Amino acid sequence: MLIGASGSGKSTWAEGQFPASYVISSDALRAMVGAGERDQRASTDAFDILEQLVSLRVKRRLSTVVDTTGLDESRRRRWLAQAKTSGLPAVAVIFDTPEGLCLERNRSRPQPVPVNVVRDQLKRVRQQLPGLADEGWDLIVTEETLPAPAGLTDAPAALRRQQIERSAMRFGLTISRFPVPRAEQRSWLAEVASAAEKAGFASLWVMDHFIQIPQVGREWEDLLESYTTLSFLAALTEKATLGTLVSGVTYRNPAHLAKIVATLDVLSGGRAVCGLGAAWFEREHRLYGWEFPAARRRLDLLEDALQLLPLMWGSGSPSFQGKVVSVPEAVCYPRPLQNHIPMLVGGGGEKRTLRLAARYADAVNVGGTSEVYRHKLEVLAQHCKELGRAYQEIEKTHLSRALPATTTEHLSKLVQRLRGPSQPADEFVSAGGAGTVADQIGRYRLLADAGVEHAIVSLGVIEPESISAFGEVIQAFEV
Ligand code: CTP
Ligand code: MG
Repeated sequence: MLIGASGSGKSTWAEGQFPASYVISSDALRAMVGAGERDQRASTDAFDILEQLVSLRVKRRLSTVVDTTGLDESRRRRWLAQAKTSGLPAVAVIFDTPEGLCLERNRSRPQPVPVNVVRDQLKRVRQQLPGLADEGWDLIVTEETLPAPAGLTDAPAALRRQQIERSAMRFGLTISRFPVPRAEQRSWLAEVASAAEKAGFASLWVMDHFIQIPQVGREWEDLLESYTTLSFLAALTEKATLGTLVSGVTYRNPAHLAKIVATLDVLSGGRAVCGLGAAWFEREHRLYGWEFPAARRRLDLLEDALQLLPLMWGSGSPSFQGKVVSVPEAVCYPRPLQNHIPMLVGGGGEKRTLRLAARYADAVNVGGTSEVYRHKLEVLAQHCKELGRAYQEIEKTHLSRALPATTTEHLSKLVQRLRGPSQPADEFVSAGGAGTVADQIGRYRLLADAGVEHAIVSLGVIEPESISAFGEVIQAFEV
């Protein structure tokens, strides 16, 4: 189920991801029963047929992509219920594309949708987003976890560019699931860590969550605690930097976080990175009995943490009085090994998150397509200018999914494996970012062109073979 305003890129994405026969589009049906894609008089008839097609396909448990704006809640709930009845995983794919980009794309189309209609749709997308979590989707995918569609179609040309003139980019690996039985997690992690370093990943990351997040998997899947896992990884590796992507400031008192990260830095030989964000996953807060304040207060807390952490790690024991947190004496022994532990701010919030990053952070992390990324960097650059911060000082990191394969045969096997009808929903969608090594080089070159300096990758299948296949991509960006 695609959800997004007109011009948000739904059809383009669907085309890049699925065979055409999977995609049931209200626009295409309007063009068939009416005088064209925008023939509103044909809407009722088009939707009658669409309902029928969706219901027949879902009954047969065929993968089906519903390409409408997805904003009609009653239709949405009906399709979801049908999927449940058939035992088909139901996935909501949200295109929360920036307004400017939607309007600009819409303008340049042959038959633009009226601007006020697009604006209204954008508004409704934003209004409906918070409620989606409670509708019962097996998985909700947002821009952050979407593979770049332009990335895949423009990849061949980008691959050639990379072969002719190399762009340098670092890569990191984020481990956001632990897909083996408990008793094997220890040895599995050791294998993954060693394969990752061998493949040339410059950084290793884990999510800082306490239950698995809906974008990745199911709540009852095993998810190891972040900093305990990182300290285990510290013992297993020699070179890679280590951090969370990212720690919600709501989980721990920030002074306590400073203490944990300082310890990780010492035990890793100076390889800690401190990932910070404003937190978003309300449910885990509820389950763990933590407060989940409104966004403004969470951002205040993030600002406090960004100021307090360096004091905790630095010399003396200054007192700190923040907006939310205060500490009479910032004391942390041992001090970290690094003179300055890099702080990475995760999130693309344009008004405050990126502004806080511009003011305090050593690195930013944002996801999305290369177009979205470019836009976020423009916003960051503007904040830097206003604050007098040197933009180049901030490392630009990006989060994406990838399913790398050595050959096209290998690729289709992997995709089959992930998309098989009996597979759970999470694996179904992690087929995102699928491509051979050559596809991936092109795809990441587009991200490098958009300004990404450090691409952090979540692999659809985490096993030594896929990690070493990705190693070939990393090599193509080494200088
Ligand atoms: N587009 C683009 N780059 C993307 C996605 C889309 O340049 N990453 C362009 C497409 O080529 C198209 C326009 O933006 O001209 C709208 O994209 P489309 O996928 O058709 O948007 P939809 O969300 O499907 O819009 P609608 O609801 O109107 O069908
Ligand atoms: Mg469309």
